[in-house]
Amino acid sequence: MEDEKQVPTDVAYWHDIYRVTDDLLRPGISVDESQRMYDQWAKMGTYDALAVESKYYTAHDQIILGILSMYPVRRDIRILDVGAGTGLVGERLRNLGFERVDALDPSAEMLRSAAKKGVYERLIHSFFTNDPIKDVDEGGHIFVCMRAENLEICSEYNGRWQPFVTRLQQEGKWRLVSECKYPQHYFHFDGLRLIYQVTKNERNI
Ligand SMILES: C[S@@+](CC[C@H](N)C(=O)[O-])C[C@H]1O[C@@H](n2cnc3c(N)ncnc32)[C@H](O)[C@@H]1O
Repeated sequence: MEDEKQVPTDVAYWHDIYRVTDDLLRPGISVDESQRMYDQWAKMGTYDALAVESKYYTAHDQIILGILSMYPVRRDIRILDVGAGTGLVGERLRNLGFERVDALDPSAEMLRSAAKKGVYERLIHSFFTNDPIKDVDEGGHIFVCMRAENLEICSEYNGRWQPFVTRLQQEGKWRLVSECKYPQHYFHFDGLRLIYQVTKNERNI
């Protein structure tokens, strides 16, 4: 297995990383373009080192803290890691004893990196659908981590996320269990962790 590369310390490298990730959030960027960038980033082979060693990225650890807060003891639950990337979440879950974990990601290169870790049961090469409830059993949980300011600055979220959440609540399909802000989601940007519990799934009726 190819060794993960170390994070270079030169300024040019950091400039490139910052530019790539800034570009990813460019208003109007197409899905194709952002996917090409994720593929490219995975191929660079430094994603994990950047996230883990640099401490400039904490979303994967925040997801784990959320899961452990709901499942401190049980390890038999099935988990779908949406946007699994290189598999940082899956790796941590496996180390904690969770063995029934699948990865879903539309980037073939990201998924290839995740596969190398050997911690997922299934690797699903796909975009996530707009129906978060569909694959979750009643009583199961949905864990979301995002850059907090995205709710305001991204057109995909602004004016859309809150009505979507409220509609599912009003339809009795999920309830908000916890909401917390945390620092350094990515570089100096705060993160937002949301935990929902699925209360009704038409699939089960
Ligand atoms: C910043 S990475 C995060 C990877 C991993 N969760 C982590 O914490 O390191 C975002 C990942 O989400 C994936 N992604 C982007 N749009 C997606 C979508 N609509 N459905 C599922 N995954 C998506 C990207 O391909 C990329 O691998």
